[in-house]
Amino acid sequence: MSITVHDPVRRILAALFILAFLAGWSTHADAHGDKKPDKKGILLVAFGTTVPGADSAYKNIEKKAKEAFPGVEVRMAYSSKIVRHKLAAEKKLKLDSPAEALAKMMNDDFTHVAVQSLQTIPGAEFHDIMATAKAFSGMPKGMKQVEVGLALMATTEDVAKVAEALLASVPKDRKAGEAVVLVGHGTHHPADVYYAALQYHVWKKDPLVFIGTVEGAPSQEDVLAELKKSGVKKAHLMPFLAVAGDHARNDLAGDEPDSWKSVMAGAGIAVTPVLRGTGDASPLADIWIEHLKSAFERLK
Ligand code: CO
Repeated sequence: MSITVHDPVRRILAALFILAFLAGWSTHADAHGDKKPDKKGILLVAFGTTVPGADSAYKNIEKKAKEAFPGVEVRMAYSSKIVRHKLAAEKKLKLDSPAEALAKMMNDDFTHVAVQSLQTIPGAEFHDIMATAKAFSGMPKGMKQVEVGLALMATTEDVAKVAEALLASVPKDRKAGEAVVLVGHGTHHPADVYYAALQYHVWKKDPLVFIGTVEGAPSQEDVLAELKKSGVKKAHLMPFLAVAGDHARNDLAGDEPDSWKSVMAGAGIAVTPVLRGTGDASPLADIWIEHLKSAFERLK
């Protein structure tokens, strides 16, 4: 019996053998995970808030990130365990920690992830995100690369840009001679110096805009001394925080005698609180998006 190319049964068998071989080979490669195409993703990491509605600031930044990266999946993670547990208990909301979110992205075949910190300064929260991202970068069977986008204020240029963005987003009904007091979180971390740096850049443009902090420097006492020196009679009190959450509602605009509103009123200043997070203000949210763009560009 002779075998020729004209033998139709042989030709079909040969073709089936080749197909089976190719299918088996590619399945084999997939199982080892080394033939998968690169998949880039974005993870935004915020502290979190339990105040209803305050997360509008995070949603605004998330929306901007999606617009800046069409076709790239954008996920959110929240670094505060207290916030996550409280929302799980009270609202049945299951939010991911940064490590949980990255583990899920690893399992969903992301190879490169840009993690954007929604922190204001590179303090303790930011450095925690850096450490978590580093742990996931190049993890066996995981992501090849995880890059972290800088906090709102990282470089000197950022601080100058934030000063301009803040001045561009002061309340529209502010009249000449009225002050604006912006209160940030403040920290025991060395990055607390950013607030004083910001005050320097703000004062170059507007001597009646004051920067204070709840837990760091400049303190409430520092700002009050400056307000008295300036002789202002009216001030707009605003958070310099990503979200207008608990600190904004209580430490700033609360009715307790030691709130910023009460203390300033006690010094004879008429106070108008403006409860809006910096993440709600486009000129500021855009700076976070710029940092995300440079982190995403570093992915290769
Ligand atoms: Co706090």
